[in-house]
Amino acid sequence: MGLSTAHLLGIRQLLPEDISLILQTATQFKEVLQRPVKKVPSLREVTIVNLFYENSTRTRISFELAQKRLSADTINFTASASSVAKGETLLDTVNNILSMKVDMIVMRHSATGAPHFLSQHVPAAIINAGDGINEHPTQALLDAYSLVEKFGSLQGLRVAIIGDIMHSRVAQSNMHLLTKMGAEVVVCGPPTLVPKHLTSAFPVRVSYNLKETLAWCDVANVLRIQLERQNQVLFSTLREYNLAYGIKRSLLDAIGKPITIMHPGPINRGVELDSDVADGHDSLILHQVENGVAVRMAVLYLLAGNRN
Ligand code: CP
Repeated sequence: MGLSTAHLLGIRQLLPEDISLILQTATQFKEVLQRPVKKVPSLREVTIVNLFYENSTRTRISFELAQKRLSADTINFTASASSVAKGETLLDTVNNILSMKVDMIVMRHSATGAPHFLSQHVPAAIINAGDGINEHPTQALLDAYSLVEKFGSLQGLRVAIIGDIMHSRVAQSNMHLLTKMGAEVVVCGPPTLVPKHLTSAFPVRVSYNLKETLAWCDVANVLRIQLERQNQVLFSTLREYNLAYGIKRSLLDAIGKPITIMHPGPINRGVELDSDVADGHDSLILHQVENGVAVRMAVLYLLAGNRN
């Protein structure tokens, strides 16, 4: 049995069975990645373009590594170094690339819905690597994989998503995934950074009290303050944000129980997360990055299998 979808546009479109299949397949690829020869021939006949219209470190390298580990041919496209700078449209760019016989497109774009638009206009499998403030599905999948690896299951797990919920595609994808898979979710941040109608869209609770939220949760997934997406003043200063909503060792010690710390990266150290917590013994952050390769191998492999 394969995935129920030809593209990975968001977690919203996935069934719980799809999520389970991706996580199980990732376990097989993680085993491959422990071998001396970390490579399988699964996508030997597949060509993939990584189409990045927005900056990335983790997602881009992770997708490229996943493609190489699967023996796919890969092309990297950076919008700022392309004819996009001369005014070429997204659709013209993609159709020109596809005419060179490309099978799959991994796309990051600052415009919400850009991968959905492409999926309706081109005959290639599209994988969303982050679109505007909408979704970042492979981030939520690698987060889920890391949690299942640590806790065995998402069912009943208490996960707090903390920080700039308003501008976070990671929060959106995590809320979809965690609630589909039976976790309990509390969303916590300053009222100006939490969308007003969130609880009518998701079965989550909203809290503005960081200490109570941390005392409740098993896992704190801490989000980056996305200054580049804010065109108005939503909190006074970064220093004040850190005082009210930053995760600090002293706060965790006062709560006195282990809380697993996650962050999608890049971290604003000393703003949403202090360094001794980010680098501490309860941090999963580098495991998340490591697991991203196996999870993206699983997504590429399963979607390639759906092409015929
Ligand atoms: N987590 C994440 O998307 O990081 P990058 O922006 O570096 O890809």
